[in-house]
Amino acid sequence: MGARNREPLGCSQGVVLKMGVGLVAAVVEPLQLPCLQLRKLNSANVKIFSFSDLRIATRNFRPDSVLGEGGFGSVYKGWIDENTLSACKPGTGIAVAVKRLNQESLQGHREWLAEVNYLGQFCHPNLVKLFGYCLEDEHRLLVYEFMPRGSLENHLFRRGSHFQPLSWNLRMKVALGAAKGLAYLHSSEAKVIYRDFKTSNILLDTDYSAKLSDFGLAKDGPVGEKSHVSTRVMGTYGYAAPEYLSTGHLTAKSDVYSFGVVLLEMMSGRRAIDKNRPQGEHNLVEWARPYLTHKRKIFRVLDTRLEGQYSHVGAQTVATLALECLSYEAKMRPSMEAVVTILEELQESSHVDRKPAAERRQESTTGTGKKAPTANASKNSGKPRRKSLGETREKIGPNPTALVRSH
Ligand SMILES: Nc1ncnc2c1ncn2[C@@H]1O[C@H](COP(=O)(O)OP(=O)(O)OP(=O)(O)O)[C@@H](O)[C@H]1O
Ligand SMILES: [Mg+2]
Repeated sequence: MGARNREPLGCSQGVVLKMGVGLVAAVVEPLQLPCLQLRKLNSANVKIFSFSDLRIATRNFRPDSVLGEGGFGSVYKGWIDENTLSACKPGTGIAVAVKRLNQESLQGHREWLAEVNYLGQFCHPNLVKLFGYCLEDEHRLLVYEFMPRGSLENHLFRRGSHFQPLSWNLRMKVALGAAKGLAYLHSSEAKVIYRDFKTSNILLDTDYSAKLSDFGLAKDGPVGEKSHVSTRVMGTYGYAAPEYLSTGHLTAKSDVYSFGVVLLEMMSGRRAIDKNRPQGEHNLVEWARPYLTHKRKIFRVLDTRLEGQYSHVGAQTVATLALECLSYEAKMRPSMEAVVTILEELQESSHVDRKPAAERRQESTTGTGKKAPTANASKNSGKPRRKSLGETREKIGPNPTALVRSH
């Protein structure tokens, strides 16, 4: 699997790009780490781990304990004592996921800091819990609750015996959980824009409860009279809202657009961007939009592996919701609170006795200790990568615009 990167587009792919992060950060903004500080942090909520503690917890970051890899670095499975939170023997205490930053760059430090500052203060059933962090010499690590079923990305797009296609009802359950996480972030209590909503950042618990992880790109929402926050365009191609790409103006409605993309990925089993598809089908939103507007055509978009598990009304409701979230005009998109209401109503209207046998079997494995898809689970080719989306003229999205702004 290629490592993720967060560099401006327009460079060649691969290792050169990876090194580019440090270079860009160093040139544009010399590395001045002290100016970026741990703020807002309620230290009672998070533990400060020593590097040696985390080395023990992960058995010296053994390759076979790797859960996945992202632009930030590798994520390892580890074990800590439930009460003292100190490292303990594998299989004892509680499992944790340890994310280790693998590049010394201002951007990497920024994202590590944002993660600690945001996730360290939130406590919500649909946000992954941050147990603590390590900041020692050049080491930057994060310790999260372990999510036994890994990411939604793996369940939707990985093939293999571990990854049976998710049933329609489970997809809707995951969509609802993730929507609740976003709705909480947008609420007056949190007032945060997540900015990196995508399938790899939606993690699943044993019972398929969804939790959002990865707050490296999160931003405080606009305050007072302001309608948006101005930012450097960062995110992942295929998920970012068109107006954000063209102006750098970020609002909660940018997250709603990304939610629409993920909903479409869940309905179709297709990736937001897939260059392996035939011409005209590379961009999921562009390809699916005309079908979503016709009641009788939406079934062309639905994942054939679902084998008709959905009711017609249910499928139409979700297609309409996705289309609304993907409105070109941000104002026309619903709030995440409204999305939650629609998905809740949909869940209430689906009856257990209508579920097909295959789905009941899948759900009955929930919590039975069946081996969860974990190690190397995200070794995926064609995976979307988080990047700085500015400073490029590449045209993407349903309303392609030259990407020239960078804030
Ligand atoms: N708390 C966790 N529990 C279980 N697995 C996890 C956990 N956190 C991350 N992972 C796994 O590690 C993978 C890498 O996560 P990470 O957030 O670093 O990158 P990403 O989301 O895949 O990519 P990007 O860096 O572009 O956001 C995830 O896709 C997931 O499979
Ligand atoms: Mg992630």
